Amino acid sequence: MSRKQIAAANWKMNLTVQQGEELLDNIINKPHHLNDNQLVIFAIPAPYLTMAQHKIAEKKGVYVAAQNCFSKKSGAYTGEISVEMLTSLGIQFVVLGHSERREYFNESNAFLAEKINICLENNIQPIFCCGEPLSIREADTQNEYVAKQLKESLYHLSAEQLAKVIIAYEPIWAIGTGKTASSAQAQEMHAFIRKDIAHVYGTEVADSISILYGGSVKAANAVEIFSQPDVDGGLVGGASLIADEFVAIINALQ
Ligand code: PGA
Repeated sequence: MSRKQIAAANWKMNLTVQQGEELLDNIINKPHHLNDNQLVIFAIPAPYLTMAQHKIAEKKGVYVAAQNCFSKKSGAYTGEISVEMLTSLGIQFVVLGHSERREYFNESNAFLAEKINICLENNIQPIFCCGEPLSIREADTQNEYVAKQLKESLYHLSAEQLAKVIIAYEPIWAIGTGKTASSAQAQEMHAFIRKDIAHVYGTEVADSISILYGGSVKAANAVEIFSQPDVDGGLVGGASLIADEFVAIINALQ
């Protein structure tokens, strides 16, 4: 299978620039055996993008991502980050629709569709997050919930555009809680997502899309989760702030 296997770090709103530099040094200078099909992506705070771009410049298979961007090209949007700003720094990836942005900044599926569009128009690959809250999981309606997120934010895209999107399935009840979905639960949802995409775009497109799992991934569970056939790596919060943990997670890529 040729889809990319990806270890993505999500630093969220953590670390000073000095701490970030040290962490990057401690991770990227460790020997990794990334093959051509494996990527490491650091989604880091916007003020540190330039620093990180310089640090990873020589590192094959290692990329920097923004954690967010705005839906408009440019203009009077104080405090926002445009895709043009990101591309001018050489950034090729952006995380969109993280559950924290959906919850605290009211980002809707429709608004995320606009952000997805402007990213793809500018050759930035979105890492699109989806996933259900606990109440939905308890009601066993997570498939419908995630299908709606995919439909409303992604399914207006052409097959060619969709193929550039990386999906991160992050059950909200597993984020930062230490409570990981079991590898069977992750596989079940990832297979569902792939089937849902196949239904709209065909199996070739569906099979080419990387679907990452997020939610309390750590060194101790990464091998097991990444071994699932439809899990193509992880989006990692807490454990990505600890060099040894994230190095082990990179090495757990299959
Ligand atoms: P976590 O966060 O690994 O700390 O659970 C994952 C995420 O929010 O992307």
